[in-house]
Amino acid sequence: MRIAMIGSGYVGLVSGACFADFGHEVCCVDKDPRKIEALHRGEIPIFEPGLDDLVANNVREGRLTFTTTLTEAVKAAEAVFIAVGTPSRRGDGHADLSYVYQAARDIAAAMSGYTVVVTKSTVPVGTGDEVERIIREARPDADFAVVSNPEFLREGAAIADFKRPDRIVIGTDEPRAQEVMNEIYRPLYLNQAPVLAMSRRTAELTKYAANAFLATKITFINEIADLCEQVGANVQDVARGIGLDNRIGAKFLNAGPGYGGSCFPKDTLALIKTAQDYEAPVRIVETVAAVNSQRKRAMGRKVIAACGGSVRGKTIAVLGLTFKPNTDDMRDAPSLDVITALQDAGARVRAYDPEGMEAAKALLTDVDYATDAYDCVRGADALVLVTEWNMFRALDLKRLKAALAAPVVVDLRNVYRPEEMERNGFTYVSVGRG
Ligand code: UDX
Repeated sequence: MRIAMIGSGYVGLVSGACFADFGHEVCCVDKDPRKIEALHRGEIPIFEPGLDDLVANNVREGRLTFTTTLTEAVKAAEAVFIAVGTPSRRGDGHADLSYVYQAARDIAAAMSGYTVVVTKSTVPVGTGDEVERIIREARPDADFAVVSNPEFLREGAAIADFKRPDRIVIGTDEPRAQEVMNEIYRPLYLNQAPVLAMSRRTAELTKYAANAFLATKITFINEIADLCEQVGANVQDVARGIGLDNRIGAKFLNAGPGYGGSCFPKDTLALIKTAQDYEAPVRIVETVAAVNSQRKRAMGRKVIAACGGSVRGKTIAVLGLTFKPNTDDMRDAPSLDVITALQDAGARVRAYDPEGMEAAKALLTDVDYATDAYDCVRGADALVLVTEWNMFRALDLKRLKAALAAPVVVDLRNVYRPEEMERNGFTYVSVGRG
């Protein structure tokens, strides 16, 4: 299959490289010439484990190319994927679809022969209808179908998620388009990934429902964690105690500082807006979004309490800035709220993150950046662990204690064991382990 991937950001690049690895001929398009030039030089603009090798191998084999010229790529393609950004629209929280619609117009102008246009970007219900309308209006005689094929990739594990998906969702009523999609995903049948055929609108909603449900699961366990602290219970035991029930499932029950990232905050908001527009409000999701954003700042107050009620004039060391490990993504990261709350309360913040510091510099002011974890805690009045990078999981406790001015550790990811920390003389505060 010849595939054009419109948008070489996170989803486009990972999907494009994986499709090429399946043996398809993929051309990734992006309007940003700097991005394409970097990709030509073999530089990957995002941090995603394994992506550099995957891209390099497939470029070498001639199956993966990059261009800023959409026309050539689309003309040659049997399937054109739209993988451009759908950020929250400023002001009202709706998904901003201007990039998607622009891509549709550009595709319409360039496509030739039967073309399957696939939306991979996360888009509200009905966007596929609008993409179809735009293309039909521009090219009344064109032979094409518009399919919804949402992605379920986790940053940091995107390649594995792509190659071993729990399911593949394909939204179309057109048998010819379904056949093309089956052909594209055929290599995955070996892994017995279930392919779910459904209507286009259903596929669009499935993606939002999945993310909203996962966000709900995390928020649920976070509130149970707060209750655990009050009643003297242990949230990790509760999570295991409920998670082994197959109806609930053990994943996504890790209590923490609240979810962040490029998907959950934005997609829950967009779902809430769509549901309100259709007068079928998703009140549970509304509550989840509100609880989660309050939680992030509340984590700052948790640190202040652990420091005896005030951090004015104190130095707080923050380990981990990205919204989760194995990414350089700072979007909606809880660290941003925690750090701002600490600064508002008069603290000086010193931070370290293996991949996130460049992005953090654009989003935070007055933060000192350290060269490693021990440099970060040197002379600090407390350590806050915000993101559970592996390198923070086995810190040398003796060295840590010697470096800190006060042995206060606030572990927002429950990485350490309370007994061990207490044995080593730390004042240790974690999440939901009363
Ligand atoms: C998510 C979805 O998992 C993915 O399917 C979708 O396509 C995009 O959004 P991602 O944002 O990369 O992926 O990260 P994910 O691993 O889902 O974590 C999201 C946030 O939830 C992180 O901030 C993480 O720390 C938090 N989280 C996750 C918890 O606090 N507890 C958990 O148990 C799981």
